Amino acid sequence: MKALVVYDTTYSNTGKIAKAIGAALTGDVKVLRAAEVNAAELNSYDLIVIGSPTYGGRPMPSVADFMNKISESAINGKKVAAFDTRIPTKIVKIFGFAADRIAKNLKDKGANLVVPAEAFYVAGKEGPLKDGELERAAVWAKTLIK
Ligand SMILES: Cc1cc2nc3c(=O)[nH]c(=O)nc-3n(C[C@H](O)[C@H](O)[C@H](O)COP(=O)(O)O)c2cc1C
Repeated sequence: MKALVVYDTTYSNTGKIAKAIGAALTGDVKVLRAAEVNAAELNSYDLIVIGSPTYGGRPMPSVADFMNKISESAINGKKVAAFDTRIPTKIVKIFGFAADRIAKNLKDKGANLVVPAEAFYVAGKEGPLKDGELERAAVWAKTLIK
């Protein structure tokens, strides 16, 4: 299977999760930052996973730009999954979360969301990741290829 994990990161936490997901997937796997990916070439992958930090309830701008560049024809019927990193406080809930927006964007374009959008938690805005999140990311990745 050919899989692509697309992410961006400011403080490196989302990058660590993306790499843990990539390492747990089997086959031909690429893990790339959003700015490194040509959205017109997504057709060549069997599975596309997209992740972002949550900023004000949204994906970070580079990931949002990438999402805007994905055409329906590139993603229609394609297996996809979405994740984000976020802070585990109740107050941020009112803004929503990056992964849900990424998942909705993909579904609206006809993609096949193989599992619900997933969240991974940081202890503070610069991290670190909460204990066990890298391991949980690896377990989540395995559910994408079942
Ligand atoms: C400007 C800013 C806005 C943020 N907004 C949210 C938010 O709305 N909800 C949330 O759960 N976390 C929020 N966070 C926390 C980020 O999600 C956290 O810093 C991020 O997971 C770090 O990822 P990175 O290390 O990959 O950059 C915010 C952080 C920053 C710096």
